[in-house]
Amino acid sequence: MTSSRPLPVRVPAVATLAGGLLALAALGTAGPAAAQAPAWVPEIFRDADLPLGEKLIRENKCSECHVRNVGGDGLSIYNPKGRISTPGALRGMVEYCSTQLNLGLFPEEVTAVAAVLQRDHYRFRP
Ligand code: HEC
Repeated sequence: MTSSRPLPVRVPAVATLAGGLLALAALGTAGPAAAQAPAWVPEIFRDADLPLGEKLIRENKCSECHVRNVGGDGLSIYNPKGRISTPGALRGMVEYCSTQLNLGLFPEEVTAVAAVLQRDHYRFRP
């Protein structure tokens, strides 16, 4: 009975390490894409924590719900009609969604999420 016990403690540790390395590898491959990102960053997003924003977007399943609404990869939900036309409006929309969905995001987290959407989808210019 007890002889089969010691292993489970170590296996998750190894799995976690492997997961971390995979994540690092993924970040590495994201490098070139990040280099192509526009140099200009809207004032309100300059101090944004982009990795935090990426994590929150994943954890809150933003895309999963958007896919149900627009199909495909869900990304076409972002600004289909140019309704959102400024960084401030984008941040406001994320805040609105967060409130509606009861995500309970802190203001810095709203900013981080909006900053990632700006970088990857909206790409407002000065
Ligand atoms: C429960 C479903 C659902 C979830 C979860 C969700 N959204 Fe949405 N989101 C929607 C729907 C539906 C719309 C379209 C609303 C409309 O067109 O009036 C939308 C629209 C948006 C828009 C505006 C798009 C535009 O340019 O007009 C943004 C920005 C947005 N969502 C961000 C997020 C973020 C960030 C998250 C995760 C933190 C999130 N949403 C999670 C359903 C969801």
